[in-house]
Amino acid sequence: MKIGIVGAGSIGATLARKLSGAGHDVKVANSRGPETISSDIVAAGAKPVEASSVATDVDVLITSIPLSRMPEVKTLIEDLPAHAVIVDTSNYYPVRDGRVDALENGMVESVWITQQLGRPVAKAWNAITAGSFEAYGRDDGDPDRIAIPVAADRDHDKTVAMALVEETGFDAVDAGSLAESWRQQPGSPSYCTDLTRQKIPHALASADKARSPHRRDIALAAITERFPNYSDVTTDYLVRLHRALYS
Ligand SMILES: NC(=O)c1ccc[n+]([C@@H]2O[C@H](COP(=O)([O-])OP(=O)(O)OC[C@H]3O[C@@H](n4cnc5c(N)ncnc54)[C@H](OP(=O)(O)O)[C@@H]3O)[C@@H](O)[C@H]2O)c1
Repeated sequence: MKIGIVGAGSIGATLARKLSGAGHDVKVANSRGPETISSDIVAAGAKPVEASSVATDVDVLITSIPLSRMPEVKTLIEDLPAHAVIVDTSNYYPVRDGRVDALENGMVESVWITQQLGRPVAKAWNAITAGSFEAYGRDDGDPDRIAIPVAADRDHDKTVAMALVEETGFDAVDAGSLAESWRQQPGSPSYCTDLTRQKIPHALASADKARSPHRRDIALAAITERFPNYSDVTTDYLVRLHRALYS
């Protein structure tokens, strides 16, 4: 497939490497220009492009940028083909992204994203830490393979997103509609806890919408206290913290 990726940071870079490695025709853009895309992404086979052309002539567009920047994507998708599927990886952290009133009032992140873009999305890869995503992909059938929840409203969007998740080395679990995708947002038991496909359904079912934002904020406060420089935080610490706080 022809895949465009908006965002070449922690998640976008790994997506570009993995999906290029799986044989897809991948182009990737950040906000600063193609010359600033890291060489390992290029070495994996992905093509750096200007953001203005990342959505042109693709079957899938993956958005992997800070949620606060998502409204900027609206202009990038003017040329996105009607058949193309958008898969979004966003998570909302008010301390980082700024308070968004609609989200503070309980709107689901992926529903807000569809409103910003004026197109439906699938929500995937949001509930895996960048470290686990890069390091822990496994072959299909491996008993230790980590699972990732995928939500979407349209069958085709969900089918495509789930297939791509599998190709990145993770089991894809159908998490239902976008309206239900709060179950995979920060603060919920399936969020960045590295569960297998056997455990994800119970984690999704036991999510508590009222408690999740508070738990998300407690986790971020704990991380910030322990690691004043966020880039020092380890994947192991994040997963253990989330498992302790979110279950
Ligand atoms: N990090 C994680 O563990 C993790 C896990 C799951 C999901 N997520 C979510 O996935 C998203 C990306 O996270 P990340 O950690 O990969 O972020 P990141 O490392 O900060 O990278 C963000 C990327 O987005 C690009 N960008 C920002 N605005 C843009 C625009 N208007 N047009 C094109 N590119 C733009 C940045 O480009 P420049 O550098 O050129 O500005 C950068 O390449 C976030 O919503 C995050 O919540 C993160």
